[in-house]
Amino acid sequence: MTSSNDKSAPHGPLNVDWSTDSIVAKRDKYYAASQRAFVPYKKPLIPKRGQGQYLWDECDNKYLDMLGMNLCISVGHAHPTVVQAVKDQVEDLPHCTTMFYHPVPAHFAEELTATMPKGEDWVVHFMNSGAEAADLALLMARSYTGNVDFLALQNAYHGATFGAQSLTGISGFRHNVPLMGGIHHVPNPDAYRGAHGDNPQAYLDDLDRAITTSTPGHLAGMIVEPIQGYGGIVSIGDEYIRGAFDRVRAAGGLCVVDEVQSGFGRTGDNFWAFEHAGVTPDIVIMAKGIGNGIPLAAVVSKREVAEALADKFYFNTYGANPVACAAGRAVLQVIREEGLQQNAKDVGADLLAVAQDLQQKHAIIGDVRGQGLMLAIELVRDRKTKEPAVEETAAVFEATREMGLIMSKSGAYKNVLRMVPPLCIQKHDVEFFAGAIEKSFATALDS
Ligand SMILES: Cc1ncc(COP(=O)(O)O)c(C=O)c1O
Repeated sequence: MTSSNDKSAPHGPLNVDWSTDSIVAKRDKYYAASQRAFVPYKKPLIPKRGQGQYLWDECDNKYLDMLGMNLCISVGHAHPTVVQAVKDQVEDLPHCTTMFYHPVPAHFAEELTATMPKGEDWVVHFMNSGAEAADLALLMARSYTGNVDFLALQNAYHGATFGAQSLTGISGFRHNVPLMGGIHHVPNPDAYRGAHGDNPQAYLDDLDRAITTSTPGHLAGMIVEPIQGYGGIVSIGDEYIRGAFDRVRAAGGLCVVDEVQSGFGRTGDNFWAFEHAGVTPDIVIMAKGIGNGIPLAAVVSKREVAEALADKFYFNTYGANPVACAAGRAVLQVIREEGLQQNAKDVGADLLAVAQDLQQKHAIIGDVRGQGLMLAIELVRDRKTKEPAVEETAAVFEATREMGLIMSKSGAYKNVLRMVPPLCIQKHDVEFFAGAIEKSFATALDS
């Protein structure tokens, strides 16, 4: 008889069938279309294990992971410090409802608020996904201000729940149902493709016009990604952020920053991307890399903003889960002790230089952009008309995989190759990347 605290698995390990055909067949048969549809490669990719910035598939092919599982892997696949923190906590107590007290989420809340700008009284609400965080931010802003109207940017991605989807400004993610009212999308500053090019003032004029024409004149708030991620690594720029904050606050609204992709040192210069603009938001939402692959998200807000919800329950069953928060604490520790923000800046600069060099050689590359480890290469058929090179991007993308790279196709037209690797990527990886991406362009386009 096995005692309840015997740590060996009393029933033996669960059987996992790693044969390629069986994995594909089971997924196709049992996944709902809503979860099955998002498949980037022609031939399914089946990652089996990861270490640091590398991945191996089920046939033991090795890849340099330039996607970090959609930026969830911040400090590296299976980082030993995170693994140990998770193991220790899951063996002690896998969950503690937020109705009870537990030190691990409380420590993490303290440590997370310490990363925020000084001089404010910050508080944290933990949950499981970025979309949940976007929903709560919207609710907080509306509850605190008593206003309804809320602004978001075109080309933004904030998640898939009804609230987050209503904030999202990319049609491929907006379903054909009545989404939430009172949300207005304004043109996103986009130096390469935007109607006003690199002219922040013109986009701020659009914002003014939207407030005076599409809203009652008073706002609940506005949400921005400092660098739009799924939108194709489009920086909205410091001047725009500062100008938008001024206008939103003048209309009585709160300023919400979505750091789900850009946070945790990824941009290199700052821990939070908004810091670059010298602003202090009222609410910040974060997810993905916060847990290095363990489901976790948070809304960090000024205390008085969060207090607007004090007299109603807002309960996320797995919110503040101690295993996830243990992972979160370990992530902060690793970023600090391994100097990963500085690494993002240094290695990011090298990767950007490789991409710029590639642009010199290939006319199809219309734009290369980004900051730290949020980088993009945009492919166009003609540098003047900027016609998106959609099929060509798909061909290069498929080739990168054959060359040992995992990248992503993004942007409204799927003509942007996005590079957002784990923050632990090293300088020697850049050399491998340079060779592999060069060969990918050559084999996909020169034949
Ligand atoms: C900027 C941004 N915000 C919010 C979300 C939603 O996060 P989740 O998928 O965890 O709900 C995402 C997801 O990709 C994102 O990129």
